[in-house]
Amino acid sequence: MNSLLNINNLTAGYGYGPDIVRDFSLTLNKSEVKCIIGPNGAGKSTLLKSIAGILKPRSGEIFFDGEKISEKEAYQIMRLGICFLPQERAIFPNLTVAENLRMCAYSIKDKKVAEARIKEAIEMFPVLGQRLKQIAGTMSGGQQQQLVYARAFTIKPKIIMIDEPSLGLAPSLVEQTFNHITQIASSGIAVILVEQNAIRGLETAGYGVVMDLGKLVFEKPAKEVLQDQSLRELYLGKALEK
Ligand SMILES: Nc1ncnc2c1ncn2[C@@H]1O[C@H](COP(=O)(O)OP(=O)(O)O)[C@@H](O)[C@H]1O
Ligand SMILES: [Mg+2]
Repeated sequence: MNSLLNINNLTAGYGYGPDIVRDFSLTLNKSEVKCIIGPNGAGKSTLLKSIAGILKPRSGEIFFDGEKISEKEAYQIMRLGICFLPQERAIFPNLTVAENLRMCAYSIKDKKVAEARIKEAIEMFPVLGQRLKQIAGTMSGGQQQQLVYARAFTIKPKIIMIDEPSLGLAPSLVEQTFNHITQIASSGIAVILVEQNAIRGLETAGYGVVMDLGKLVFEKPAKEVLQDQSLRELYLGKALEK
């Protein structure tokens, strides 16, 4: 119970449909990076949505910093410090970079703190500082991606959950994105990463978590998963063919 995040026997699904996440348990400590891999439809996105409070669990409990969050609303969970970047990570394309950063920092009551956070985010992603007045949608894909992470950083979350960060990105941006994730983690934020590019995801993470049919198959240090030939063949097969 001492972990930052404790997921205990979580079961979740949609409407009257079947259970998608089934009896799933996981912990996450401060500064830890865990990468969840598994086939399409395994329930990875559903798991993240349940943690974020977008989907209410059917059973099981989730604790954050010792506080039960599995019955809280999504906005409350975000305020507590869990930031969810869904697959469709939108920025406001018609607003300037500065406005995008401010929109996010608005959730912080103290204006001075909000300004300081924006400043810090810009220090982390200096390109944005040179483009504060630019309309965000007119920046390059890589710059927009940096804005996504900078926005998340302004809320100073304790946990960031990122669903498929490399999906749909040009190959040149994939590497940059994983570097940003490493950068975020080294600032003390714990990360749950869901990633199709299993090898790159595991290289970024401390632990690899394999999920299939809504269940936890195993969790191991990411290095072990990468080095174990039979595990590689079983779970990273697709990634290896590339
Ligand atoms: N909004 C939804 N309503 C109903 N079923 C859904 C919804 N989103 C996902 N599902 C179903 O949940 C299952 C797991 O989906 P998902 O969590 O997105 O898997 P993954 O992210 O591992 O690919 C799939 O069978 C999918 O059809
Ligand atoms: Mg998904």
